[in-house]
Amino acid sequence: MASFFHHLFCFLLLQLPLFISAQTYNNITLGTSISNLQENPYWTSPSGDFAFGFYPHQNLFLLATWYSKIPVRTIVWTANDGKPVERGAKIQLISNGVLSLTTSNGTEIWKAEAIDNSQVAYAAMLNTGNFVLFTAESRFVWATFDNPTDTIMPNQVLDLGKKLSSRLTKEDYTIGRFELVLQGDGNLEFYTIARPTDSRNDPYYGSNINDNGTQLVFNQSGYIYITLKSGGVHSLSSARPLSTEDYYQRATLDYDGVFRQYTYTKVSANGTWPESWSTSWSLPQDICTSNFGEFGSGVCGFNSYCRLAEDQRPVCLCLPGYSYLDPTNTFKGCIPNFTQQACGTVEPRIVDGFEMQRLPSTNWPMGDYERFLSMNEEWCSETCLKDCLCAAAHIGVRGCWLKKFPLSRGYMTSGTGVSLIKVANSSAERIPRTAYNGNIEEDKKWIIPGSILLAISVVVNLLFLFLVIYIGCYKKKTKRQTYTRPFGGNLRSFTYKELNEATDGFKEQLGKGAFSTVYKGELKSDSGCLVAVKRLDKVVEGNDKEFQAEVSAIGKTNQKYLVQLLGFCNEEAHRLLVYEFMKNGSLENFLFGSLRLKWNQRIQIALGIARGLAYLHEDCSSQIIHCDIKPQNILLDESYVARISDFGLAKLLKSDQTRTTTGIRGTRGYVAPEWFRNMPITAKVDVYSFGIMLLEILFCRKNVELKVGDEEIEILSDLAYEYYQQKELHLLLVNDEEAKNDGKSLESMVMVALWCIQEDPSLRPSMKKVTQMLEGAVEISMPPSPNPSSFSNISPIV
Ligand SMILES: *[C@@H]1O[C@H](CO)[C@@H](O)[C@H](O)[C@H]1NC(C)=O
Ligand SMILES: *[C@@H]1O[C@H](CO)[C@@H](O)[C@H](O)[C@H]1NC(C)=O
Ligand SMILES: *[C@@H]1O[C@H](CO)[C@@H](O)[C@H](O)[C@H]1NC(C)=O
Ligand SMILES: *[C@@H]1O[C@H](CO)[C@@H](O)[C@H](O)[C@H]1NC(C)=O
Ligand SMILES: *[C@@H]1O[C@H](CO)[C@@H](O)[C@H](O)[C@H]1NC(C)=O
Ligand SMILES: *[C@@H]1O[C@H](CO)[C@@H](O)[C@H](O)[C@H]1NC(C)=O
Ligand SMILES: *[C@@H]1O[C@H](CO)[C@@H](O)[C@H](O)[C@H]1NC(C)=O
Repeated sequence: MASFFHHLFCFLLLQLPLFISAQTYNNITLGTSISNLQENPYWTSPSGDFAFGFYPHQNLFLLATWYSKIPVRTIVWTANDGKPVERGAKIQLISNGVLSLTTSNGTEIWKAEAIDNSQVAYAAMLNTGNFVLFTAESRFVWATFDNPTDTIMPNQVLDLGKKLSSRLTKEDYTIGRFELVLQGDGNLEFYTIARPTDSRNDPYYGSNINDNGTQLVFNQSGYIYITLKSGGVHSLSSARPLSTEDYYQRATLDYDGVFRQYTYTKVSANGTWPESWSTSWSLPQDICTSNFGEFGSGVCGFNSYCRLAEDQRPVCLCLPGYSYLDPTNTFKGCIPNFTQQACGTVEPRIVDGFEMQRLPSTNWPMGDYERFLSMNEEWCSETCLKDCLCAAAHIGVRGCWLKKFPLSRGYMTSGTGVSLIKVANSSAERIPRTAYNGNIEEDKKWIIPGSILLAISVVVNLLFLFLVIYIGCYKKKTKRQTYTRPFGGNLRSFTYKELNEATDGFKEQLGKGAFSTVYKGELKSDSGCLVAVKRLDKVVEGNDKEFQAEVSAIGKTNQKYLVQLLGFCNEEAHRLLVYEFMKNGSLENFLFGSLRLKWNQRIQIALGIARGLAYLHEDCSSQIIHCDIKPQNILLDESYVARISDFGLAKLLKSDQTRTTTGIRGTRGYVAPEWFRNMPITAKVDVYSFGIMLLEILFCRKNVELKVGDEEIEILSDLAYEYYQQKELHLLLVNDEEAKNDGKSLESMVMVALWCIQEDPSLRPSMKKVTQMLEGAVEISMPPSPNPSSFSNISPIV
């Protein structure tokens, strides 16, 4: 290796001045060849930055392009699918214009030729890192930039349908398990591939642009973006790149499935070079918890779990008692180091020699075959140990999940609950506990990825039925019950003491409403899960049954766009509800302040809320009317998915509070006119509030705004109708180019909002209809004026 460096260095020293004076590429003429037996088996670019040829690799050679001026000679392209060749191999630009790679016995194993049968006249390694075949007219007819492997560089573009494939491991350049594809519609998506076939699993990252993309561009200044048909661009990162004058840049789909942009200095001021490239940004941000869909092992192999190390790179670790299938490739998965538990046919089952090992903050969200709601850790552990089909169990706030082989898509991230792994206790002894007591910064959060929620919602009813039967049977067999059986079915019952401790004496207030206060809490018993504890201040007194019925009705709702109720406390005068903690707080903070969500995110949020409300109105066992839809009651989870909070509370409050002296439960500016008119309150009140909020989401301004100076009040909903009629909605936008460029969507959303805020409730569409309108699934007709003067005196429709 050292001699290679030496030769390279001498070669550059000798050749560089020549190249610089020539200021052009050195033509590789027809008939020229290089063999990996010769001293410098490569061609360099005139600037010396890049070399193309044989790169020594583990006693063999790769036909590749690499950075040749810096000590970190990173490969950016390989021929022959990354398979190395032996000594004696030769690369030749044959007189017929084919670039041919042959082994020592003359067998051709790879070739490149003009795409359109033109006659190739010469080849050249360009200063950009592109190796090109030219016609006599200097036209490109084949280029490494058009046939990328895992890397793109400045001045390189990826056309529709083209892809990057990761290599297998750090040192193995053959094709790996990950692909980055610019889909036909211009969306950039990352996939895992079901090897040995080429079939793609579900994407684990998507750029989700609403416009048609045309190319993925790495431009000369170091920006990477998708160009759009409409003329704009969709940047993959908002970070400003370093200068391409001073830094080499590349973006690689790495063997761990992450797409990273890298930089490396071109000049070393004091004679020392950095040891490696620096990462400027990466996608996806946390590949460990990315949603890999239904099939495949995820980023790590089966029976292992993924953890982000301190450098933000994923590491794959084996379950306790398991070892790597291939220690040289930790991404390949793990196998148990012990003989599986035998399935005896008689009770009691053979449990001798097996035990459950605790692995905090981990989960394998996809391998569940059974769920027991509200069961505690001890029960869960015992149940898995006795079940010969059970490989591991998971205990979260809501209960106990049993998991089967092989465990897939596992990850470690704080606050996800505790996993219990079944191991032979002889092998367990040898496992150093520090193996999983990782040194990750504890940033405790409670994460239930959307996919899991969805999966759970499908099976929840079946499991609940099973639970009822199972508890019945279990009771007869054993007296060792340590769990508390809740009345609400799937909710956990907390004691006041527990919640007092969790909230540290109700210390950190997250929010306060007219009838309740919300505090941040941390469940120490559940490895520090974060929760939001809502204390109801004015509830119906002494009516336990009603409280229980309401709480259990809320507990039965389960949908992606709702904040999940986890449990409650009903002790003497104390009435508390325990919810999932939502990391990003309320939507209000992202609409009217300096932090503004992007246009596409806002559209997704509006659609999410509509879907959540449609579910509450139509898909629950008993209809739930929210009565207080406003941005403060929409929370955002860690992926900025909208989650409706505070629903189902209307009936928990004293009945006279639904219509108080101020008239209403609800908030000024969002309440439907029927509240003031002694008309029946239906789900259409939520549709009205949604319409007002939709306008606020679209225009990022409050419905009722006091103009400073004079006391004039501007009502957004009135303005929206006016500007809609004049076809000048863009005038209501302030500093919002994205929305302005998407005028058509803006107009149709405003039309939906105008339908929602019709004064006559019967004219307002149902939330289901609203969802369809927002999705573009149905035609939206022209809305009439929301406040026809004729309606103001109409008597209520009863
Ligand atoms: C390379 O070949 C082309 C076409 O034959 C020619 O125009 C050009 O001058 C050559 N360049 C050098 C450096 O020889
Ligand atoms: C040439 O060598 C390759 C291995 O490098 C071998 O697979 C192939 O059979 C050989 N062909 C001939 C004709 O000997
Ligand atoms: C994208 O392209 C498809 C097919 O060409 C077309 O139907 C659709 O309207 C385009 N979408 C946008 C936003 O341009
Ligand atoms: C590269 O893209 C950025 C952002 O789109 C743009 O500002 C810059 O001018 C582009 N540079 C070149 C050389 O095209
Ligand atoms: C050289 O410079 C780099 C940064 O410019 C610095 O990190 C490094 O310590 C320096 N090395 C020496 C030997 O001075
Ligand atoms: C697995 O077993 C092998 C030998 O049987 C032993 O060398 C290794 O340390 C064991 N690994 C673990 C994780 O127990
Ligand atoms: C292994 O399991 C058996 C039966 O469960 C138990 O008696 C024994 O103490 C365990 N051994 C260890 C080292 O934990």
